[in-house]
Amino acid sequence: MSTSPVAAPAFAKGLVGVIAAQTALSSVDGANGVLTYRGFNIHDLAGQASYEEVVYLLFHGALPTAAQLGAFQQELTAQRALPQPILDHITAAPASATPMDVLRTAVSMLAYYEPEVEDISLEATLRKALKLVAQFPTVVAAIHRHNAGHAVLAPNGALGHAANFLYMLHGQAQSDLSNRAMDLYLVLLADHSLNASTFTARVASSTNADLHAAITAAIGALKGNLHGGAAEATMNTLLEIGDLGRVDAFVDNAFATKRKIMGIGHRIYKSGDPRARHLLEWARRMEQAQANGAQYVDMALGVEAAVLRHKELYPNVDFFSAPMLYYLGIPTALDTCVFAISRVAGWSAHVIEQYKDATLIRPGADYIGPKHQTFVPLVDRG
Ligand code: COA
Repeated sequence: MSTSPVAAPAFAKGLVGVIAAQTALSSVDGANGVLTYRGFNIHDLAGQASYEEVVYLLFHGALPTAAQLGAFQQELTAQRALPQPILDHITAAPASATPMDVLRTAVSMLAYYEPEVEDISLEATLRKALKLVAQFPTVVAAIHRHNAGHAVLAPNGALGHAANFLYMLHGQAQSDLSNRAMDLYLVLLADHSLNASTFTARVASSTNADLHAAITAAIGALKGNLHGGAAEATMNTLLEIGDLGRVDAFVDNAFATKRKIMGIGHRIYKSGDPRARHLLEWARRMEQAQANGAQYVDMALGVEAAVLRHKELYPNVDFFSAPMLYYLGIPTALDTCVFAISRVAGWSAHVIEQYKDATLIRPGADYIGPKHQTFVPLVDRG
């Protein structure tokens, strides 16, 4: 009896259109611009649920009751401090090191001081994930304080996750408006299906590598400007344009020279990113609270309109994040680290899902190199 040969799956450049995992964490409907976390529309969560509630939702599958949230917040608050060697690493980093490199190395080093590092059971991974969520803002604030020549501050246990981060960054508690803007940002970026860094985390954990290994890998993938690095790149673009009157010429020139405009376009959302409008609204609120008359939101809107005259491309999550983070006083070079502060929740939840799935992720490749080469020993190669 003859069996017909199984056709090799078609090569999909950039894995476009490939469904590589099943997840119950978040869904992205690109055609309709809908993002949900465990079935909750992002528009309902934005402004109504805190980041801590969203982390609980991702980790435990349901929104917390008030009592559950209180206990969860207490646990998070208790885990914010860093081992001294991590602080020493941060303050010993050369001034030339990028904040993302320092964050990635600090997170990798945290594994040394994690007693449960090798335990990939659900319970241990949840405990470690909670600790990482709590520690990320402390690491990022310490990186900034050191780079700015200020003393590194201890976390403030009286403040929530977002407010404490801004406190540790700036050395004093920030306004309610700023704290709410920071919290909203963290909620909006907490998870996003199988984006590049999350996929990286899942690939690493599919080998049974521990949480710290997977999160360190994810930070590496987030760094590039086609992914998390786009907010920093967007703000640098707005600063480079510098004036509302120069927007159209800048965009026309970018298209003429095939220069990509950062913060614009998306692999999945082809008719707009649902997170962008919340970030626009809050960037505008933050801008109005400034006394210096800066116009980066108007410039961003000008870029959006000018891009649309060339191509149907829309702002993604990083586009209006850029001016919003800028108005929160966050240095542009820190933007990708701030993205990581939020996304560590999604990465961790995906790692837990991947452990449950218990399947090695190992795709094939279409070999296009030379075939049937004749080996010549080194001595005969001339
Ligand atoms: N500026 C100018 N042109 C852009 C563009 C941008 N930001 N994003 C996409 N395009 C163009 C592409 O060059 C391509 O043009 P072509 O058809 O003439 O080749 C077309 O629009 C389709 O885009 P494509 O490259 O197929 O989209 P993708 O799904 O592969 O890439 C991104 C998605 C996000 C990588 C891409 O839009 C991009 O580089 N954006 C800027 C970086 C960014 O903001 N990243 C954060 C994402 S959340």
